[in-house]
Amino acid sequence: MLDSHLFSYSEGSLCCESVRLDELAGEFGTPLFVTSRQSLVSQFRAFEAAFATLPHFTCYSVKANFNLSVIQALASEGCGCDVNSGGELYRALKAGVPPARIIMAGIGKSEDEIGYALSSGVLMIKAESVSELRAIDRVASRLGKVARVAIRINPNVTAETHPYITTGDSKEKFGIDEAELGEVFNLFRTLPNLSLEGLDMHIGSQIFDPEYYVAATQKLLDVLESTRSLGFDIKWFDVGGGFPVTYDPQKPATPIGRFAEKLIPMLEGKGVTVIFEPGRFLAANASVILTRILYRKRNHAGKEFFIVDAGMTELIRPALYQSHHEVLSVTRHDRSIVADIVGPVCESSDFFARQRMVDDAAEGELMAVLSSGAYAAVMSSNYNGRLRPAEVMVDGSDVRLIRRRETYEQLVQNEI
Ligand code: LLP
Repeated sequence: MLDSHLFSYSEGSLCCESVRLDELAGEFGTPLFVTSRQSLVSQFRAFEAAFATLPHFTCYSVKANFNLSVIQALASEGCGCDVNSGGELYRALKAGVPPARIIMAGIGKSEDEIGYALSSGVLMIKAESVSELRAIDRVASRLGKVARVAIRINPNVTAETHPYITTGDSKEKFGIDEAELGEVFNLFRTLPNLSLEGLDMHIGSQIFDPEYYVAATQKLLDVLESTRSLGFDIKWFDVGGGFPVTYDPQKPATPIGRFAEKLIPMLEGKGVTVIFEPGRFLAANASVILTRILYRKRNHAGKEFFIVDAGMTELIRPALYQSHHEVLSVTRHDRSIVADIVGPVCESSDFFARQRMVDDAAEGELMAVLSSGAYAAVMSSNYNGRLRPAEVMVDGSDVRLIRRRETYEQLVQNEI
């Protein structure tokens, strides 16, 4: 089983905490996202324990899983939020997160979104370009406010991960180039509605080697020094998210303690509060997609397919990043078989696993696609007229519906 998640077999039947998944399928139907509340909480506590000696503030990156109940579970433990749009800000506020515990990110915020963040009173807005700084100043002056701002620096560190989720390299669109910092500092001196309070970076996602963080943190520390020598009072030092989880038991993630060991000595005593923005680390292994085998078929080449009722519309990660997700039979079988686990969508990239050894389960039985808590439901779509699934949250033996299944009426509700 994967690190930290609370999905395991009991008497041959896969359970989430103490609830059998087959019973959840019976009650709520499939496909179904099943989230373990205890998994979210225990991952957050593990993160906090690793960095306990460092003055820090952990802001859950809501983009990983924006369900209100997921945000609430983490906020109830004292976690703040990192939001990337007006919609995510709305969700965080709706979940009851105090604005002073929310930081607003996003490389392309509209003036409306900037205004929403400022009038809500978020802790900080992270700016990613000179033009955006001017926009923040304009909006703040219209609202009669001084905007608390962090600047996102592009540290030009290329972390080894999937190319679509590396962000700290100068080839990428993210962050402000070091060469532009002179102009940025001048803006803070001249524009009256901006206050520079933080430095920020985010080098990518699912990063296994702590040395990338060390290199980027060192660059940001150098910027901290020069910023202070110019007289700015920097309170926040945001190192972003990206901490890895295990998707494939053959490739276990670097334990979070290894990141803490490297980062704490670099950051302690610097007179700043360090912000972390984990998304995947908190949410990925807290959920599975529960799906039913609709059909099995074998072609002339002897290839076996399990056609299940969930697909790339619920989890696009295998198609988009060639990512590995474990697929388990909900009822254990003694015999196994090599098969492709595929969805109902009319795309060849609609698969969860290819040439994978799985239990020899029959049509009508259930399977669970693991590690579906981060970047799964949030990236879901209605492609092929598919309905977004229901979601439930398990806490011990308690089960709560946290999102209703979409209906056909909802598919057309905004059309005129
Ligand atoms: N902070 C910022 C500014 C980010 O852009 C991200 C993720 C995070 C924090 C959280 O990163 P995490 O701790 O979750 O790695 N859809 C892709 C991942 C995209 C990540 C985007 N930014 C996937 O499924 O792998």
